[in-house]
Amino acid sequence: MNPSAKFWDKIAKRYSKQPVADEASYQEKLRVTRTYFRPDTEVLEFGCGTGSTAINHSPYVRHIHAIDISSKMIEIAQEKAGQGDVSNVSFEQSTIEAVSVPDQSLDAVLGLSILHLLENKEGAIEKVHRMLKPGGVFVTSTTCLGDSMKFFKLIAPIGKLFGLMPLLKVFTAGELLASLTDAGFEIDHQWQPGKGKAVFIVAKKAEQQQRMGATLEALAHQCDPDRKAHSIE
Ligand SMILES: C[S@@+](CC[C@H](N)C(=O)[O-])C[C@H]1O[C@@H](n2cnc3c(N)ncnc32)[C@H](O)[C@@H]1O
Repeated sequence: MNPSAKFWDKIAKRYSKQPVADEASYQEKLRVTRTYFRPDTEVLEFGCGTGSTAINHSPYVRHIHAIDISSKMIEIAQEKAGQGDVSNVSFEQSTIEAVSVPDQSLDAVLGLSILHLLENKEGAIEKVHRMLKPGGVFVTSTTCLGDSMKFFKLIAPIGKLFGLMPLLKVFTAGELLASLTDAGFEIDHQWQPGKGKAVFIVAKKAEQQQRMGATLEALAHQCDPDRKAHSIE
């Protein structure tokens, strides 16, 4: 079994009973996220944990596919959805690395408290960018340990070795923003409720086709200023 899945399986029950650490900030993140939703919005959430956020958002969208590496987390999420009579959220045990989603098929992707837990966040961000329709959004909330707790770089591998910590990557908010913009996202919203708290970002995929069309046209014109006249001939 994948060591990450093993770690999260082990703590799933305890995790489900923990109250949200900062309820006011959580509610604000839900509120901002919903300003991007419409009744026909198609969503993927990866690293959904025990499903609370997907269930909370379910009345505001058409469908949410929520995945998590831990089958125990998914079991708890399915139980909660069943109790709440939620019919437009599907839960699946899967990873962001393995999940197969057609390109440009989603309006929104949520990745909350997860990017710092991935071996290759850049790969995940690029994959999310491909899944999104032009104009679609990637909503993230990420603990950027590189800004406030750099020492985790030393202790995280030891903690992981003894099964006391999950895989943890240390990077700054600036590095995260650079990974998002390098993948082609524009930052639409950015908020950190306080020092050391997770950085909440809504990154938007550009209305790419129009933009690329305009860029190609400008490039073609630079290479051959008479092009327009030629194309009329
Ligand atoms: C800190 S919890 C966050 C859960 C939830 N998003 C929240 O905000 O409460 C991280 C979750 O990511 C899951 N996870 C870790 N690596 C993953 C991966 N590669 N793909 C999908 N889920 C993963 C874990 O099982 C865990 O449920």
